[in-house]
Amino acid sequence: MGYGSEGSEPIRYSEYLRVPELLDQQHCLTVPEAHDELQFIIVHQVYELWFKLVRHELDAILAALKVGGSSEIYTATRLSRRVQEIFKVLVKQIHVLESMRPSDFMAFRKKLNPASGFQSVQFREVEAMLGLKDATLAAFTREDPRHPALLKRLEAESIDEVAYELLRQRGFDVVTPSAERSEADEERSLLALKVLYDKPDNDPALYELLEGLVELDEQLILWRRHHVMMVERQIGDKPGTGKGTTGNLDGIRYLRTTLNRRAFPDLWAVRTVLSD
Ligand code: HEM
Repeated sequence: MGYGSEGSEPIRYSEYLRVPELLDQQHCLTVPEAHDELQFIIVHQVYELWFKLVRHELDAILAALKVGGSSEIYTATRLSRRVQEIFKVLVKQIHVLESMRPSDFMAFRKKLNPASGFQSVQFREVEAMLGLKDATLAAFTREDPRHPALLKRLEAESIDEVAYELLRQRGFDVVTPSAERSEADEERSLLALKVLYDKPDNDPALYELLEGLVELDEQLILWRRHHVMMVERQIGDKPGTGKGTTGNLDGIRYLRTTLNRRAFPDLWAVRTVLSD
């Protein structure tokens, strides 16, 4: 298979994709090797690869929304569809882990302690890019080489912020959701969004963009729900391996507190105020 190399030697599949290097990145800690450990490592690595692509696409969405013209809104909507599809794969992928018997997991779980998905910097970056910025959670990844990238994300504009800026430019009287936003501002923002949501045909491009963001939020929530169910199925109420890093709570008790995180709370709430 040729990949259009400009050199005299056509580049080979495994060279282009660095397959040997990729296949050399799975190092089980158990001796003799516990059968399910390879599966556990690969599933996590594949998640991290997808997170890398999600960051790439969300960056492009952010850049497009900052310009905010009609062709950029189309680009943002189109790329958000891609991220939605990736998120659906991420939700489905949890089933692979569910094929592991809890007793098989116990054969290597102690070895990975205190590592936990809780320390995934890329997951926190994706959250921050959508608008779920949490400096307290970020602090737990201080020792990771990507930590500085996460700190930048916390400072940078997120998709919720640029989307609200765009709405304001289009004449919608909205205030970006934050802990500081007053109740009056929240009410005003919902009434402004209600105009668009009552009559989506008046600005279908903007409506589709916002619904794409809701879809992303929903897929992330579905991932959280599915992950917590899978965790309960594997370890019940046992403490998580990230215990001590998650604060007072850990394991499924901690994970249950995350299920209500919404990157775009107004886009959910607006449905309640729609005209009958
Ligand atoms: C058998 C498989 C798994 C188990 C038992 C498990 C368990 C847990 C537990 C107990 C926590 C809470 C923190 C703690 O107490 O350590 C957690 C958090 C987390 N896990 Fe997993 N996990 C598994 C697989 C995965 C996979 C495949 C991913 C994909 C990257 C993942 C990503 C995360 C993330 C991102 C968090 C933080 C969630 C948040 O703070 O909102 N986990 N996991």
